[in-house]
Amino acid sequence: MADLSIEVNGIRFPNPFVLASGPPGTNGKVIKRSFELGWGGIVCKTLSLDHSKVHNTVPRYGKLTVPGEKKKVLGFQNIELISDRPFDTWLDELADCKAAYPDRVLIASIMEECEKDKWVEIVERTQAAGVDALELNLSCPHGLPERKMGAAMGQDPEMVEQVVGWAKGAATVPVWAKMTPNVTDPTLSAMAAVRGGADGLAAINTILCVIGVNLDTLRPMPTVEGYTVPGGYSGRAVLPIALRHVMEISRSCPGTPVSGMGGVESGEDAMQLMLLGASTVQVCTGAMLKGYEMINELCDGLTSFMDKHGFESVDEIVGKSLDYFTTHADLVERQLAAKREKAGQANRDSMWQGDIAKETDSLVTD
Ligand SMILES: Cc1cc2nc3c(=O)[nH]c(=O)nc-3n(C[C@H](O)[C@H](O)[C@H](O)COP(=O)(O)O)c2cc1C
Repeated sequence: MADLSIEVNGIRFPNPFVLASGPPGTNGKVIKRSFELGWGGIVCKTLSLDHSKVHNTVPRYGKLTVPGEKKKVLGFQNIELISDRPFDTWLDELADCKAAYPDRVLIASIMEECEKDKWVEIVERTQAAGVDALELNLSCPHGLPERKMGAAMGQDPEMVEQVVGWAKGAATVPVWAKMTPNVTDPTLSAMAAVRGGADGLAAINTILCVIGVNLDTLRPMPTVEGYTVPGGYSGRAVLPIALRHVMEISRSCPGTPVSGMGGVESGEDAMQLMLLGASTVQVCTGAMLKGYEMINELCDGLTSFMDKHGFESVDEIVGKSLDYFTTHADLVERQLAAKREKAGQANRDSMWQGDIAKETDSLVTD
């Protein structure tokens, strides 16, 4: 049986599968359930100091399904904000979860306005609850950017460096920065986070989208009192985008562990993120759609993959396929060289066949 554990920033994860910040970690009760079912770790729903500023709507989800098959979800949109539960309640629940499951990894996702005092306070009070690490949500794409939070910070490398620096100045546990995919070049903010002192990077948060328009009512969805806002796209459809972001971030920030996520629904999906640099893999929408029990499928998939390739530790998988990215011009060069080589071989073969024929002829005529 393969050893699925991995150490990241000095924290030993029993397996690399972590529930991502969102509905799967919305309170202490579900966090404990995820630990019981075998998840290596969990990032709780994002907390802020003042929950009274957070107002969610109903509905706040929308789905893109396979045409004619309403149960097959391709992509998922949410306009959910961060947690609307009181900060003090959260601190009690985090402490309780950690005490009950000391060997499971509990990461707190935190977000605040762009003020040093607020970040220092949220870091100090959250880590005092006993969490193993902090994940700075610099990436929620909807609602919070209106308050200059979330993606509004993550899209600005200078702000990223500053906020990560504030958090690191107060933190005694590892700090991960969760990056937004809603940028042209994901490496700029990732490198800024590393300059700010981030111990790890997490990617991707959701991708801004409009899930669809109702053709009867002509209203875009999800429709709240007839109106909507663009929201965050997640689920199976975003995996290729997540793979590209994780690859680029891993290549641009060597030595900084990356926690990859976006569209993971199976062991095969997770393995691909790992091969492109993720040392842990987070899952949000997959667990919402398939249930927390999907952890068994993920662990089985990783075990068979390691057996098949003879990997003895999860570390050996991380970033294994990164070296196979190059420039397009290099691809063209390689293809030309391969063609030349093939043509050369064909010439050599035909010359050799010719020589044999000549030799045979001479033998016959002699
Ligand atoms: C309904 C919902 C709520 C989410 N809430 C948060 C959140 O509070 N904080 C956060 O950092 N990410 C949040 N996310 C983003 C996920 O953690 C994850 O980055 C994203 O959904 C991509 O992964 P997935 O395809 O596995 O869902 C949320 C995602 C969904 C679908």
